[in-house]
Amino acid sequence: MSVDSNWLIQQFHQMFERHSDDEVWVARAPGRVNLIGEHTDYSGGFVLPVALEHDVAIAFRVRTDRTVRLYSCDYREMTQFCLDEIRPSADATWSNYFRGVAWVLSNYEGQGEREHGDNDEGEGASKDWYEWVSTGLERHLELCGLDGVISGNVPIGAGLSSSAAFEVASAIALLVAAGMDTGVLDSFEPECGLKVRLGIALACQQGENLFVGVNCGIMDQIASCMGLADHAVYLDCRSLEHKPVRLGLERAQMAIVVYDTGVRRGLVDSEYNRRRDETEIGVKIIAHALQRKDIYSLRDIDLVTFEALREVLPAKVASRCEHVLRENLRVQHGVAALMRGDLLAFGDLMWESHESLKDLYEVSCPELDMAVEIARDIPGVLGARMTGAGFGGCTVNLVHQESLSELIDALPSSPMRPGALQPQAFVINVADGAGAEGPKK
Ligand code: GLA
Repeated sequence: MSVDSNWLIQQFHQMFERHSDDEVWVARAPGRVNLIGEHTDYSGGFVLPVALEHDVAIAFRVRTDRTVRLYSCDYREMTQFCLDEIRPSADATWSNYFRGVAWVLSNYEGQGEREHGDNDEGEGASKDWYEWVSTGLERHLELCGLDGVISGNVPIGAGLSSSAAFEVASAIALLVAAGMDTGVLDSFEPECGLKVRLGIALACQQGENLFVGVNCGIMDQIASCMGLADHAVYLDCRSLEHKPVRLGLERAQMAIVVYDTGVRRGLVDSEYNRRRDETEIGVKIIAHALQRKDIYSLRDIDLVTFEALREVLPAKVASRCEHVLRENLRVQHGVAALMRGDLLAFGDLMWESHESLKDLYEVSCPELDMAVEIARDIPGVLGARMTGAGFGGCTVNLVHQESLSELIDALPSSPMRPGALQPQAFVINVADGAGAEGPKK
C-alpha cells in the first residue's frame, strides 16, 4: 500500500500555515525488492529488481525564496536549511538524503549544456546525469525552496531501499519546484521521460555516494525510477540499458512474498564497502596478470578467464569475484526463464543465488539462512533468497498462491535475536516507478 496523498496533504496543512493560494504537490517514489543479481551493480553487472507498492511520499508547496523546511511524520521532527548552504545535519540525520540530492542538484544550477563525462568505465555513476535531467527542463536548472511533509511505509533498514525511495521522491519534489512539468515523468518516451528518470536516479546515487557517504551502486535508484507494474527491471549496470521483463505472476497463480527477519545490523556499511574493495582488488590483480588496461570491472572478465587466473588471487577475493561472475550469468538465465514463462527454472536460480551469497560472498546471516531453509521445505515455494545488501533484512520468496499461508505460518513471527524487530511476511504488489501528483483543485 502506498502512502495516502489525502492524508499526507492533511498533515501538511497541520504543520505549515495556510496560504490563500496554496498549491500542494505530492512526489512519491517506491522501495524495491531485488529478485536476483545481488552485489553485482557496483561491478557493472546485471540486476533484476521490482518496484514495490510501499513508497515514500512528500507533500510540498513551492516557496519564493531558497529556504527548505521539511517535516518527517515518521520521525516527528522538523528541519530547515538554505539551498545556498547545504550541509549534512547532525540532528535530523534522516534529512541528509534530501539534503544530499539538493546538494548534487545545486552544484549544477544554471550551468546549461555541459560536456559529456569522459569516464565511461565501470558502473554508470560516472555518466553525466545533468544532460538527461535537462531534457525535462525548459530552462537551466534553478532550484526553489519548498515546504514539505514526508512519510514512508518502506520498512527502514530492511534492504528494501527506503533511502533510495526518499532520495528519488526528494529529487522529484526539487525538480517540480524548479519548474519541471510532471507530464515529463508520465511519458515513457525513450527520448524524454525515461532519460529524465535515468538522470534522476544517477543524481540520487551521487548524493548518497558523495554527501551521505554510502558507496552504493545504481540498482536501488533505478528500480525506484524505472519500475513498472507486473514487470521486473532488467538492468545492465555498466551501460545502464534497461528493459522491463513481464513477470506474469497472476496468470501463473504465483506470488512474491517478502519476509523481513527483523534483524538490523550496524555493520552493513563497512562490510558493504569491504566487499566492494575486495572485488576491485580482484579486478586489479587480474588486469595486471593479463597486462590489460581495458579491464575496469568484473564485467570485463569472463568465467573462463577468471578460472584460469584464480590461483593468483587471495582466496577471499577469488570467492567474491566468483560470486559476481556467476550471479551475472544467473540474472541472464533468469531473464530468459521469465521470458519463456519458466518460473520453476527462475526459482532454482534464486536458491543458487542464496547459496552463493552465503558461502562465497558471505553477506548472509543465520536468520536469513533459516528463513530460506524453511521456505525450501514447502513444496509450493519455487525459490527463495536473501535480497539487498544482506547481514539482516529480508528474504524474497517465489511461491504458489495456494501455498501462501503455509509459508507465512512456517516463518518465525517473534524477534529472533536480542534487539531484533518483530519479523513480518507480506505479499508484495509490483508497482510503477516514481511520479508526482499535481495540486488538487
Ligand atoms: C544495496 C546497495 C545496492 C546494491 C545492493 C546489493 O542495496 O544500495 O546498490 O549493491 O545493496 O545488491
